[in-house]
Amino acid sequence: MTEKFDCLEDFENLAKTILEKARFKWIAGGSDDMVTLTDNKKAFDRYRFRPRLLQDVSKLDTSTTLLGNTIASPIAMSPTAFHRLADYNEGEKATAKASCSANTLMVLSSFSNTRIEDVKKAAPDGLYWMQVQLFKDKRITENVVRRADAAGFKALVLTADQPVFGKNRRDSAYKNISLKDHPDLLRSINLEYAGLEKYQIDDAQTWEDIKWLKTITKLPIVVKGITTGADAKIAVQYGADAILVSNHGGRQLEFLPATIDALSEVVAAVEGSGVEVYMDGGVRRGTDVLKALARGARAVFIGRPIFWGLACNGEEGVTQVLDILKEEFRRSMCLIGCSRLSDITPSMVVHESYYY
Ligand SMILES: Cc1cc2nc3c(=O)[nH]c(=O)nc-3n(C[C@H](O)[C@H](O)[C@H](O)COP(=O)(O)O)c2cc1C
Repeated sequence: MTEKFDCLEDFENLAKTILEKARFKWIAGGSDDMVTLTDNKKAFDRYRFRPRLLQDVSKLDTSTTLLGNTIASPIAMSPTAFHRLADYNEGEKATAKASCSANTLMVLSSFSNTRIEDVKKAAPDGLYWMQVQLFKDKRITENVVRRADAAGFKALVLTADQPVFGKNRRDSAYKNISLKDHPDLLRSINLEYAGLEKYQIDDAQTWEDIKWLKTITKLPIVVKGITTGADAKIAVQYGADAILVSNHGGRQLEFLPATIDALSEVVAAVEGSGVEVYMDGGVRRGTDVLKALARGARAVFIGRPIFWGLACNGEEGVTQVLDILKEEFRRSMCLIGCSRLSDITPSMVVHESYYY
């Protein structure tokens, strides 16, 4: 691949020309009129920086820890289903290898095309967390949890914003994805347990299910999908170890706030609890990462750009996506006058209305 990529948008544009139309549409899509989806990105543009000049940024360190695990920069991968849609041969194995060589964290989706054990085998030194979903038949969730634990995954990410699937434009795209050459393209191989080929999400799920999870595993639990301070406080009460502020990339409840806007309320709500707060949704540039950290996130996670990297250039494409975002972030840190992540403070970013 001789393509020159300057930014993540270049990957998106090329992926659009490479992928079958229905596949690209399903990956790109969001709920209803895609207001939240669009706002996730646009909201970043509403913040302005207030740098500190002449700070000696010659020795930069972007590394951090997430629940005690060290990663090279505060940029990790959100769980997303079916990576073989973008790289049929390698799928999640390619993502895992790229994640490992970038020294970052991959959250494997329960709806992945690749077995938990095979992901780990593809890049044994990688850092993995497992996304879990509460199913009506709890044995399916339990099986995923136990296998991830046995394979050395370091935490569970409980998706809490999906008691039912959002009504999405992507649904029609999903139905149009051609399975002619690859009948297993949309196969959630990790959910096939005890002869159960069909899973049903438990629409009766409650916070009490976190207690149940704690009876079957000692792994730390990250609650994904929180957008309010009130829910963040409940998550802490129920023993969550971390919170991933997320509106599911605009694919679940429409008219949720952009995550960069919702972030500060959540950070304030859990202050002093020791619970880590991360965010995902619309992160596409190094400055987005910097804004999220200034507003209190410990790290950001990315979803769709992983598919674009896979579609454009497989494992190498994901590596390039991660490299570009990290390089942009490093540069932004230098320009704002920070050498370490702990130098980034809330006073370094303001809403644009500050200047009106
Ligand atoms: C194609 C696709 C599949 C996804 N699959 C899952 C999933 O299986 N579990 C989950 O918790 N979130 C899933 N998400 C949501 C992502 O984890 C994440 O919240 C979102 O993609 C972040 O926004 P971004 O794509 O703008 O970076 C998915 C998102 C996309 C785009």
